[in-house]
Amino acid sequence: MSKLSTQHLVTILDLSREDVDRIFATTREQKPQAREHRLAHSHPNRTLACIFHKPSLRTRISFEVAAGQLGAKSLYITDKEIGLGQRESIEDVARVLSRFVDGIMIRTFDHSHVERLAAEATVPVINGLTDLAHPCQILADVFTVEEHLGGIEGRKVVYVGDGNNIAHSWINAAALLDFRLVICTPRDYAPEASVVEAARSKGSLDLTISHEPAEAVRDADVVYTDVWASMGQEAEAEERAKIFQPFQVNDALLSHAKDEAIVLHCLPAHRGLEITDEVMDGVHSRVYDEAENRLHVQRAILHLLMP
Ligand code: CP
Ligand code: NVA
Repeated sequence: MSKLSTQHLVTILDLSREDVDRIFATTREQKPQAREHRLAHSHPNRTLACIFHKPSLRTRISFEVAAGQLGAKSLYITDKEIGLGQRESIEDVARVLSRFVDGIMIRTFDHSHVERLAAEATVPVINGLTDLAHPCQILADVFTVEEHLGGIEGRKVVYVGDGNNIAHSWINAAALLDFRLVICTPRDYAPEASVVEAARSKGSLDLTISHEPAEAVRDADVVYTDVWASMGQEAEAEERAKIFQPFQVNDALLSHAKDEAIVLHCLPAHRGLEITDEVMDGVHSRVYDEAENRLHVQRAILHLLMP
């Protein structure tokens, strides 16, 4: 049974603030144990199905390793196998998979497919990225901020780039937790209004949408960026590279942030586009700690959600 208030993690809005506290408390407890190879197997004889319709380094490896560290097996399934919604209905896939496995992690394009899977599955469904949201990433990011800055409360987090799945999940996190969020994008690439509205209706959201990078980054505690062309938008990459150039996270832009600001990027990074080598490899960067925390936070999520 789930030890959180939700059975599934489709977006961060599925969680309560207490759920986030619980995930982070479990992460803090398990992280040193896992690093020292002494974490007990809490989930032996369980199986996690990992469905991928897009490429992945971090999400795939961290979920498969996390499952193994809990004593569970993982299955890597691509779109060639189950043909979700094509070979058979999403609902039938959910019903059948629920008879075989103890959890489903899915990365796909259409967010509504994950919602439909979750609606019918009797085992937890975890969103490993859709075009709309990437909840596990931003939970790991918030955890990283807490580790490095001692808490996210009252901090100013500035996301500079495309109003994409990463921006959306930051907006969802800001609806739940007490920090100031600035999303700074080119005018035609702002986050979806429906995501902002849903987050506003959830709680007290301190969100500013900006189109002026230097102004946005002023006094930031956290500067965050992501690719300008997400998976599935490769054909737009060249056009976007021109439009997004003023939004590059480089030393000049970072000089507007606080001296002790940290820089995060969900990765993969396109060095020389949305972020420069100097910033990625510079003293403010925490991007590899952030990547490692995908493993620790997701292991906590599996630990709490899987029966
Ligand atoms: N950040 C992230 O989700 O990386 P992958 O696409 O490699 O999984
Ligand atoms: N916005 C990016 C995130 C990759 C982790 C994408 O969807 O491709």
